[in-house]
Amino acid sequence: MPRFCLCYPQKEPTSMSILAECVSPGKAPHRFCVGFLMGMVVASLIAAPLIMNGDNYYRYRTEPVSHVGGVSRMAMQEESTERSAELWSERSVLDREPQDIRDPASDLDTADRHLHRDDNTVAQRLTEEVRVLVWVMTSPQTLQSRAKMIRDTWGKRTNKILFFSSKSDPDLPAIGLNVTEGRTHLMEKTNRAFRYIYDNHMDDADWFMKVDDDTYVIMENLRYLLSGENSSEPLFLGHHFHLRYRSRGAGTMKYLHYQSGGAGYVISKEALRRFGEKGRDEKLCRQTHGAEDIGFGQCMINLGVRISNSTDVLGRSRFHCFPPGHFTGGRYPSWYHAYDANGARKGVQSMSDYAVTFHYIRPSEMQTLDYLIYHLRPYGVLHALQNLNREHNTTSLPAGHSEVFAQP
Ligand SMILES: *[C@@H]1O[C@H](CO)[C@@H](O)[C@H](O)[C@H]1NC(C)=O
Ligand SMILES: *[C@@H]1O[C@H](CO)[C@@H](O)[C@H](O)[C@H]1NC(C)=O
Ligand SMILES: *[C@@H]1O[C@H](CO)[C@@H](O)[C@H](O)[C@H]1NC(C)=O
Ligand SMILES: *[C@@H]1O[C@H](CO)[C@@H](O)[C@H](O)[C@H]1NC(C)=O
Repeated sequence: MPRFCLCYPQKEPTSMSILAECVSPGKAPHRFCVGFLMGMVVASLIAAPLIMNGDNYYRYRTEPVSHVGGVSRMAMQEESTERSAELWSERSVLDREPQDIRDPASDLDTADRHLHRDDNTVAQRLTEEVRVLVWVMTSPQTLQSRAKMIRDTWGKRTNKILFFSSKSDPDLPAIGLNVTEGRTHLMEKTNRAFRYIYDNHMDDADWFMKVDDDTYVIMENLRYLLSGENSSEPLFLGHHFHLRYRSRGAGTMKYLHYQSGGAGYVISKEALRRFGEKGRDEKLCRQTHGAEDIGFGQCMINLGVRISNSTDVLGRSRFHCFPPGHFTGGRYPSWYHAYDANGARKGVQSMSDYAVTFHYIRPSEMQTLDYLIYHLRPYGVLHALQNLNREHNTTSLPAGHSEVFAQP
C-alpha cells in the first residue's frame, strides 16, 4: 500500500521515471508495484500510436529569456532550430514507430480512392491565382523519413516544392547546398536556398515559403490567407515571435521581431527580390552563423519587409510552432510566453478554422493529419466558406533598421 505512492510519478510520466522510483536500489520491488509497472508499460505500448500529438512523450528544455546583450542571446538562440532535432530524437526513442523507419510512401493511398464529392472550385481557383513555392529544409539524416513523407502528403498540393539538403539526392530529389551539415550552418543553408530560388525560380511563384521537414502545411488555407495580401508589397508572414533585448549603443530595451522557423514563414515576391538584390550585404543580413529564423527575420526587416499580422480577423493563430494539441491544452514551455507576439493564447478557440501550419509533426502524424483534414467528415454537415481574412491595412510591424548581431 505505501509502495503504491512511490509508483506515482511526481513529475512527467515517462516510463523511465516510474521505473526509477519503483525499483529503487536496496529495496525489493513490491509485487503490486511491479504489476502496476507492467500494466503501465503495456498500456503505453497500446496507447502510444493513438496519441496524436505525443505531448506526454517529450520534454521541453526551458529556455530562459535573459535580457542581457544581443550577442549572447544570439548564441543561445542558435538552439532554437536545433530544438526540433532534439525533441524529435527524444520522441523517437520513446515511441519508435515502424513508419519512421521504413519507406514512408509504401502504404500511402496515393491514388486517393476515397469517394469524396466535395466542391473544391474555390481552392482550385486559388491554386492558379496564388502561386506558392515551398522549400523544405532537410538533411541527409531525415530525408528518407521526413522529407519523403512531405513529398507524398501535403507536398502534392503545393504549386512547386523544392527540398534543400547539404548534399544533393537524385531520388527525392533534393538540391545540395554545398554547406556543412549541422545546426551552426542553418543560417548559411537558408541564405543559399533563398538565393538559389531567386536565381532559378523567381518567376515560378508569387510567394515563397520556407518550412522544416517536420512542418505540416494546409496549402488551401495558406493560399486563402495570401489571397488577401499583395505579393508586390514587401511582406513576411508566419508565427510572429518577438524578443526583448538591450540594444548595444544606447542600452535601451527593444523588441526583435521575427517569424518562427519551425512554424514556417512566407515571403512575398517583392521581399525575395530585395533579398536577391541586397541580401549579401553583411550590414543588413547575417551571412553564416546564428539562429536561422532570427537572422533571416532581421534581414527582412533591414530590407524594409513588413511583418503582416497573420492571425485571422478574430485574432486566432494560423501558423503554429507546435502540434495542435499544445494549443488546445495550452501546455506551453515557459519561454513561449515571452516569445509569442500574440499573447500565447490557448484553447480550441485560439486557433483559426483556417490554420496554415503545425510544427513537430512526425512522418506518421502527417498521414494522420491528411486523414483528419482531407477525409474525415461528420456526416450530414456541409461546410460554408467563412471570411476570416484581416483588412490589408492592419499589416504594419515593424519599421526601421534593426541591429545585425555580430558573429558569435
Ligand atoms: C553545389 O555545387 C555543385 C558543384 O560545384 C553545383 O553544380 C551546384 O549548383 C551547387 N549547388 C548550389 C545550390 O549552388
Ligand atoms: C500591389 O502593390 C503594388 C506596389 O505597392 C501596387 O502598385 C499595386 O497597385 C497593388 N495592387 C493592388 C491590387 O492593390
Ligand atoms: C494581431 O491582431 C490581433 C487582433 O486581431 C491582436 O490581438 C494582436 O496583438 C496582433 N498582433 C500583433 C503582433 O500586433
Ligand atoms: C484602414 O485604413 C483606413 C485609412 O487609414 C482606416 O480608416 C481604416 O479604419 C483602416 N482599417 C482597419 C481595419 O484598420
